[in-house]
Amino acid sequence: MAHKPKHKNTHNKMNILYIVAMQAEAQPFIDHYGVKEVVDFFSPLPCKLYQTTITNANGNSSQLSIVLNGQQHGSDLVGCEAASVATLAAIQRLHPDIIVNSGTCGGFQAKGAEIAKVYIGNACMFHDRRVPGDDIWGTQALGNYPVWKGAQEMSESLNLPLGKVTTGSSLDLQPCDLEIIQENGGELKDMEGAAVAFVASLLNTPVVFVKSVTDLCDSGAETFEEFSRNLSKASQALKETNIRVIDYLSNL
Ligand code: ADE
Repeated sequence: MAHKPKHKNTHNKMNILYIVAMQAEAQPFIDHYGVKEVVDFFSPLPCKLYQTTITNANGNSSQLSIVLNGQQHGSDLVGCEAASVATLAAIQRLHPDIIVNSGTCGGFQAKGAEIAKVYIGNACMFHDRRVPGDDIWGTQALGNYPVWKGAQEMSESLNLPLGKVTTGSSLDLQPCDLEIIQENGGELKDMEGAAVAFVASLLNTPVVFVKSVTDLCDSGAETFEEFSRNLSKASQALKETNIRVIDYLSNL
């Protein structure tokens, strides 16, 4: 297999780590696998771990860890800071072979996005870090972190569309962010992807994205209302795709 991540364990079992921001995004596939929470695993950090071993139809087993950012003040932690903390803690404690950052995103009708369409993200960058100075600062600001080399092959095998993830700290879309997204061919707007990839790059761990569209940034609708209305549908679609992704990764 061309882009098999290197196994870090001795028993040839793929160690798959999901990083997911919101409980609602992960719950359908947590329920599907009947995964139990490992309570207080990351204490005192708010991140939550769900873990199980799964064996697919070919008899290949994987360790599946689903890490959520957790909550603060009664709401799920979204955004780059929480995603960075969760990713760092999870890599250091769980030593994954591959990270899948999965969740919802905004898409663009002009680029063919539809509500609950699920993409494999094969590139990522930040769209709201405007740092003046020379190319070195500009390059750091945009990020453009590496994504797992097998992303395209997986998307072809599973017949899923590919897209470039762009990450920022806000749900809304400001004109200055749109300019950066358009200049750089961004397709999937989220609040965590590039932060997860940044930490993964520091610790040499392959990362790929599975993102489901809750709202269309160019629809003219109010984003939070559109996001809330479609969260459940998009999360169900995410579950269906993640089952196929986990099966694919388990066979590598
Ligand atoms: N997550 C879901 N929709 C989003 C959007 N429009 N922007 C950022 N993150 C999102």
